[in-house]
Amino acid sequence: MSLLSLEILQFRNLQHVRIEPDAGLNIISGVNAAGKTSLLESIFYLSYGRSFRNSQARDLIMYDKDFFRLLSKTSDGHHDYQIGIQKSIKDQIIRINQQTVTRVTELSALLPVIALHPDSHHLITAGPEYRRQFIDWGVFHVEHAFIKSWKDFRRALSQRNAALRNNESDRVCNLWNQVLVENAEFIQKSRCQYLEELNEVLKRISGLFFPDNKITLEYRRGWTEDQDYLFQLQQTLVRDKEKGFTQSGPHRADIKIKLDNKSAQTSISRGQQKKLVAMLKLAQLEMFIQSSDKTCVLIYDDLPAELDSENRRIIMDMLASMKVQVFVSAIENSQLEYSSWNSGKMFHVEHGEVSTTSL
Ligand SMILES: Nc1ncnc2c1ncn2[C@@H]1O[C@H](COP(=O)(O)OP(=O)(O)OP(=O)(O)O)[C@@H](O)[C@H]1O
Ligand SMILES: [Mg+2]
Repeated sequence: MSLLSLEILQFRNLQHVRIEPDAGLNIISGVNAAGKTSLLESIFYLSYGRSFRNSQARDLIMYDKDFFRLLSKTSDGHHDYQIGIQKSIKDQIIRINQQTVTRVTELSALLPVIALHPDSHHLITAGPEYRRQFIDWGVFHVEHAFIKSWKDFRRALSQRNAALRNNESDRVCNLWNQVLVENAEFIQKSRCQYLEELNEVLKRISGLFFPDNKITLEYRRGWTEDQDYLFQLQQTLVRDKEKGFTQSGPHRADIKIKLDNKSAQTSISRGQQKKLVAMLKLAQLEMFIQSSDKTCVLIYDDLPAELDSENRRIIMDMLASMKVQVFVSAIENSQLEYSSWNSGKMFHVEHGEVSTTSL
């Protein structure tokens, strides 16, 4: 799905912006604090219902205003969709073709967005939840039963955790085991399969970024290897009760990212981490394109600040050969190498106002 138009109202410093992006490349330029990240953030919000910065919804509403609104016309090549979100401190309204919907995941399914931004290295350096989000985004878009299974698991988990905290009898605490086990197995199987295919894509593209290294992703499922999940739940019941929560399961899974068999978290430079994250996201994008007939949107905030010119060129060339709608920001257009693109648009942002030119 690509964005045909985007209208932004009272989002950060963007009072009222209307753009008609190119189906391929869109370059967002402007000085510091012009509103470049805000523009990209609004696209991200339309897909995820949250920011990629560490911000609450109230931070996104323009100062002294009560709400922001994002409206977009999108197309999958066959049908057009009008999607919109209006967010106030109190509530959020999501609409798809004039119908109100309750779940943000309906937007995510319609408008798949992959983002790279200055905090993206968290995928490597921060907690396992970032890596679970990464893999689950991919699984969500290829395995349609995943979201239901994940929700059923979360519901049973929170009920079991409540029983543990209330020090209920063993019989009561074990009531949810069956639902947990069934869904844990499905979640684990889907994630492993996804990771296996992602590793294959990585093998193909890693030569461009890390010609002398071997990159591998290994899944840690969140409970002891070679042990049945049901058995583990029974075994750890006493300790789970002491802690007041379920300590094992797919909600504790992680991915070990390794470079030449060493942990990427501790053994490579910050620049290498940024390059590695970019490569992982591009591999994910490549896999999405292979398995879906939809178009994906890729947001790259402040690309020149993230990578050196050689790596920027590799990425821009690679994106030019993919079926993807790209939004990339830079202080100046000249910092980006876009000669491999046939067409595109430039959006210059100044004090929250946007003007458009062709490439
Ligand atoms: N809720 C808000 N209402 C109004 N302005 C805001 C709000 N939140 C942030 N801003 C301001 O919006 C401006 C644009 O911020 P943004 O991060 O989009 O800039 P940028 O162009 O990406 O800059 P940089 O090149 O420094 O990354 C900043 O001056 C910021 O302080
Ligand atoms: Mg910025």
